[in-house]
Amino acid sequence: MKGKFIVIEGIDGSGKTTLAKTIADAVGGADLTFEPTKGVLGQALRSGSLGDIPPAAEALLFAADRAIHTEEIKKKLDAGIWVICDRYLGSTVAYQSASFGDAADWDWLLDMQKKSVITPDLTVLLDLDPEAGLGRVNVRGEELSRFEKLDFLKKVREAYLRLADILDYQVVDASQSAEKVSQDVLHIMEKKGLYAPQ
Ligand code: TYD
Repeated sequence: MKGKFIVIEGIDGSGKTTLAKTIADAVGGADLTFEPTKGVLGQALRSGSLGDIPPAAEALLFAADRAIHTEEIKKKLDAGIWVICDRYLGSTVAYQSASFGDAADWDWLLDMQKKSVITPDLTVLLDLDPEAGLGRVNVRGEELSRFEKLDFLKKVREAYLRLADILDYQVVDASQSAEKVSQDVLHIMEKKGLYAPQ
């Protein structure tokens, strides 16, 4: 049987990593992965070594990194392994539309990924007020990237919520405790036949 593909989206500090681990434990093990990936393109995007590139180039590179990643994910799913991915196509639509978007860009950001992504069995959107998200990132003591500015993240959040309507993301209130967030997500998974409590 094929493995299931679960994606977690949300702004920085929304608790994606913690949730990914909880879901993996609940389903008896899964491959945890993330984007931007550890590959050449993912590393270049993360490191800032590309310098100040045009927004369209940035979007295409995120999508190319994802296209390569998707081939690896497909192999795992075919081998019966469940895959939980921290960020997927929604991140490029939400973040890159926030950095250069009007309506045309929104459509382009979705359309240009169509041939290189697969449809997840579930996408969870951890919805959080960016002020709270930034608070959590600050507490972790990490340097703030340009993606983590408040106004920008407000736009990202709006774009995510709009995407949730179009792509059937399951929106979960990430301002709750980690336990409550997990409970909500496991409940959604149960309803979708992805989890059966012992
Ligand atoms: P992330 O791994 O969540 O951050 P970190 O490793 O610093 O905790 O992702 C790095 C940043 O890249 C994040 O701010 C969101 C941004 N991003 C995009 O702008 N577009 C994309 O398609 C992806 C996957 C990430």
